[in-house]
Amino acid sequence: MSEMEKLEGALRFIRGKTEFRPKAAVILGSGLGGYAGQMKIECEIPYGEIPGFPVSTVEGHDGRFIFGYVGETPVAAMKGRVHYYEGYNMEEVVRPVRMLGMLGAERLLVTNAAGGINLSFQPGDLMLITDQITSLVPNPLRGENLGQLGPRFPDMSTVYDKGWREEIRAAAAGCGVPLREGVYLQTPGPSYETPAEIRMFRGWGADAVGMSTAVEAIAARHMGIKVAGISCITNMAAGILEQPLCHEEVQETAAKVEDSFTRLVSAVLAGL
Ligand code: HPA
Repeated sequence: MSEMEKLEGALRFIRGKTEFRPKAAVILGSGLGGYAGQMKIECEIPYGEIPGFPVSTVEGHDGRFIFGYVGETPVAAMKGRVHYYEGYNMEEVVRPVRMLGMLGAERLLVTNAAGGINLSFQPGDLMLITDQITSLVPNPLRGENLGQLGPRFPDMSTVYDKGWREEIRAAAAGCGVPLREGVYLQTPGPSYETPAEIRMFRGWGADAVGMSTAVEAIAARHMGIKVAGISCITNMAAGILEQPLCHEEVQETAAKVEDSFTRLVSAVLAGL
């Protein structure tokens, strides 16, 4: 079955359950697991029920679409995502994102947990993503171009929409949430980086590092979807502090920031 046939099959399945038309979509990364509590929910569909959909294997990463309202805005939320390090290929990793676009979402807000490379960052900071480096992972658009979705050689000079970034800065100021800004770099994972890699990434201009998001942003931009992104800096990247990195630290910091992260995401989505 071709990728387009898989996407169309999944779309038919979802349309058999709901006619919900999202205006915007959000990917809820670590730290926003409880975000559905902010939504007036119309319908939920676990990825596992959708034909051809990848299912997350990581502890603490539930996987489902949640359709509902944030304020007056119809929103499709991805609670959980799948990662390249789980063994899926990039076409599978971005399949749910493409589905959000096919369901009608014109904007996508991506969120994640990331390690801070920029030495002025602190664990618990939120970072508005200004640009990204994807060169270390396979491109999700590799293979036959899905011409119905977008062009063969899509422009990536402004992955993260300038106007929307301006709105997010204003939303953050409005709800009193300090916001850093910077470049996100995606690694294949699942091992954390070495101190030497982090020094190299800093030299490349990266401010934060994680194992998701950038390929999702490429797939969304391919379809002409407006993209914005916010990282929760859960830890300083390898080699900056004396202590080793661990998943528990990432989860703990993400949980501490959940309140302000939630307020900011609600302000951003409700304002659309
Ligand atoms: N590196 C990669 N991914 C991450 C990190 C990190 O330091 N923190 C949270 N996700």
